[in-house]
Amino acid sequence: MNTFSDALLWRYATKKFDPTKKLTQEQLDYLMNAGRLAPTSFGLQPFKILVITDQKTKEQLSPAAFNQPQIIDSSAVFVLAANKSGLRAEDVDSFITLVSQTRGVPVDSLAGFRQTLLDFSTRATTEQQIEWIKKQLYIVLGVIISAAAMSAIDSCPMEGFNPSEVDKVLGLEALGLTSAVLLSVGYRATDDKYSQAKKVRKPISELFIPIATPGE
Ligand SMILES: Cc1cc2nc3c(=O)[nH]c(=O)nc-3n(C[C@H](O)[C@H](O)[C@H](O)COP(=O)(O)O)c2cc1C
Repeated sequence: MNTFSDALLWRYATKKFDPTKKLTQEQLDYLMNAGRLAPTSFGLQPFKILVITDQKTKEQLSPAAFNQPQIIDSSAVFVLAANKSGLRAEDVDSFITLVSQTRGVPVDSLAGFRQTLLDFSTRATTEQQIEWIKKQLYIVLGVIISAAAMSAIDSCPMEGFNPSEVDKVLGLEALGLTSAVLLSVGYRATDDKYSQAKKVRKPISELFIPIATPGE
């Protein structure tokens, strides 16, 4: 892919994957690292992402995603899942420890930041926190989709699934997680007619409202 714009034009929500073409572990690692580097609010990352390559698990998951063929035929399915308990004090503390270790600064110097995060976490209900975590996961989703496209890897984001069914099939409750959004990755089938469809997007003039200094 020459440019990011080329990649965005090349990619499309792949409906038909070639089930014989699999991503390598190196490619999966690349996509996972893209998700890892995505920005999140405060940098907290209160979520986990399951990466399903096991065919049997994909088959079990399929009915929970209304049998969309992208689940079974893709090379891997990423299940982006929010921490079901929202943001707990212990999550804040382990994050503060990570910041301290990564940047080599004493935990005490982060006391103000820690308090800000704790205040933030206690202001919202658990449901509101889960919604907030899901917003972070959509940013992660966009970054992984874009990284995939840059590397000529196809993908299909999916909201068309029953979250409680997906949670049940994958045992997410026991992991303290709840599913937010799915992403199939792999390679497009040569006869996926959607790959030839023109991109339908509003013009820039309809989407953006410039508020610029007059005369500049
Ligand atoms: C959050 C989200 C959820 C989506 N859910 C589904 C889905 O469940 N099934 C599907 O086939 N496509 C799904 N799509 C794909 C969109 O329909 C597609 O991205 C949109 O029509 C624009 O087309 P393009 O991505 O091919 O350019 C989803 C896209 C996003 C971003």
